[in-house]
Amino acid sequence: MLNDFAYTAAETIRTAKPDFSPRAAIILGSGLGALAEQLEDATSISFSQLAGFPVSTVPGHAGELVLGKLSGVAVACLKGRAHFYEGYGAGVMTSAVRTLKLLGCELLFVTCAAGSLRAEVEAGSLVAITDHINLLPGTPLIGPNDDRFGPRFFSMANAYDAALRDILIASAAAQRIKLHEGVYLACPGPNFETAAEIRMMRTLGADLVGMSTVPEVISARHCGLRVVAVAVVTNLAEGMTPFALSHEQTLKYAALGAKDLIALIHVFIRRIAQALSTSTA
Ligand code: HPA
Repeated sequence: MLNDFAYTAAETIRTAKPDFSPRAAIILGSGLGALAEQLEDATSISFSQLAGFPVSTVPGHAGELVLGKLSGVAVACLKGRAHFYEGYGAGVMTSAVRTLKLLGCELLFVTCAAGSLRAEVEAGSLVAITDHINLLPGTPLIGPNDDRFGPRFFSMANAYDAALRDILIASAAAQRIKLHEGVYLACPGPNFETAAEIRMMRTLGADLVGMSTVPEVISARHCGLRVVAVAVVTNLAEGMTPFALSHEQTLKYAALGAKDLIALIHVFIRRIAQALSTSTA
């Protein structure tokens, strides 16, 4: 059951861009691909050329790894991701995340679109994820453990790194960008939730609902990558408005929040470059 996909993909990447060691990885969710276009000295590799990388079937999720410098820091951007609902299973992003670790990344910045369960956190808002609730029918690390990446059992305490989040919050304040905080609940999708499910999720303690993020965060914590995650609210969750939800709406409002989020990532990456070299996970 164990495979060497992550090692093979890391080798492909090193061959495509020799002497490049990314320190941070960024997963760009719906509508956020524009950040990858801002990398300096960029090299793009299609997911289809990288062993173990999933080829997404969703419009708005391009499926390219873009390597380059962002605000002077070497980064690896995953432009697009794949989701549980596409049929790959909860381990959909595990190999890609492990590849980022093998390349030398120390942190994973996850972005995603999400529905808000709080009426005051409207479409277009940014929310720093503080913790998650996994309601996917599975987790990514079921099966034999690959000890090369991490231990069989591992803690999810501080999975969304509080110290990195502090830097993120300070970065947002410096840019006068409003940044909320909240708990993300992952649903399998691809259907949006029912109004009754949303009421249940609020009772469970969720502030956000989405169909991604949790598989990659669990995989990242297993292999010791530090995580920071921000959701762009694309809608109030089902039952909170008279409108039916749609993917078009997700893309439209993701674009609205994208400008602020891209500005925030620039500042955060600049600030973090120093902190990474002076701290431990
Ligand atoms: N539910 C689930 N996933 C989502 C939503 C939502 O309301 N909005 C964006 N992604």
